[in-house]
Amino acid sequence: MITRLRRLRRTPALRALVREHDVLPRNLILPLFITEVESEPTEIHSMPGVKRWPVDRVNEIAQEAADAGVGAVLLFGIPAEKDDQGTQASADEGIVQQGVRALRAGGFDGVVITDVCLCEYTDHGHCGLLDDAGTVLNDPTLQRLADTAVSQVRAGADMVAPSAMMDGQVAAIRDALDDNDYEHIPILSYSVKYASSFYGPFRDAADGAPKFGDRRSHQMDPGNGREADREHAVDVEEGADILMVKPGLAYLDIVRRTREAFPEYPLAAYNVSGEYSMVKAAAAQGWIDERAVVLETLTAFKRAGADLVLTYHALDAARWLAS
Ligand code: PBG
Repeated sequence: MITRLRRLRRTPALRALVREHDVLPRNLILPLFITEVESEPTEIHSMPGVKRWPVDRVNEIAQEAADAGVGAVLLFGIPAEKDDQGTQASADEGIVQQGVRALRAGGFDGVVITDVCLCEYTDHGHCGLLDDAGTVLNDPTLQRLADTAVSQVRAGADMVAPSAMMDGQVAAIRDALDDNDYEHIPILSYSVKYASSFYGPFRDAADGAPKFGDRRSHQMDPGNGREADREHAVDVEEGADILMVKPGLAYLDIVRRTREAFPEYPLAAYNVSGEYSMVKAAAAQGWIDERAVVLETLTAFKRAGADLVLTYHALDAARWLAS
């Protein structure tokens, strides 16, 4: 007797009946760049289809996403002023804080998440404060991150997402939120973030490239897998509500092992800028079918074990899924 696995693949209806994993718009998170530098929506050269949005226009794109069913937006800021402390990250009139308030004032009813890091706000482009030798200081940075998170929540953020990869950042932020009566605000931790070359286009988009050196002293080494379990465990201990693996596609093994090691936690995967740009570039050449490739990729994240996917394709994908 031949084992006939094709029996359940014969028609679209049969395939749909037995499909194990589906992508849903409500599980997608759309990253948005809010700019204090430009006064019109401005295309990002290395990320076709992605724009930097001025505060007075950000509701358009956020509402479009929500109307398409996208579950949340994640805000990044491009400030007009940078300094060595990243002062604008935690300023109540900072660009992300203004953006959150604009969304709230405009009646946006989706989930608003804010990225908590200093790299877009420091003149040196590093994720934390530096000593004279240019080393990123861990503990002095924690207070800056905590202040940033509190000011974002004061502006109206529903959730904060620390991405600086400082040890102890989740605990510092949790304490600060609790001290300010924001004990109800969850933390989406970039718990496992690799020192990846796939962030290149983002650094154009957010103008956050380090002016010297790199991020290898705090982001994870791509050669390490077991260490991811320790990073997640520490963040769970410190109070993370949602775990994340970043980047996504080259790290689906880490998504899978995280799902197995922390079965009871919501897990997000970040389909980062370089992954997006590669798809857009190949599609522009006519070498791949963008829609099919994107939906297949998002399905792969779900199959690997992610509940949520942060992706620049979120709005397109949500529309494709609806049609
Ligand atoms: C840091 C941050 C980065 C990304 C998200 N948050 C850049 C970095 O660590 O260098 C990258 C996201 C992407 O590439 O899409 N604030």
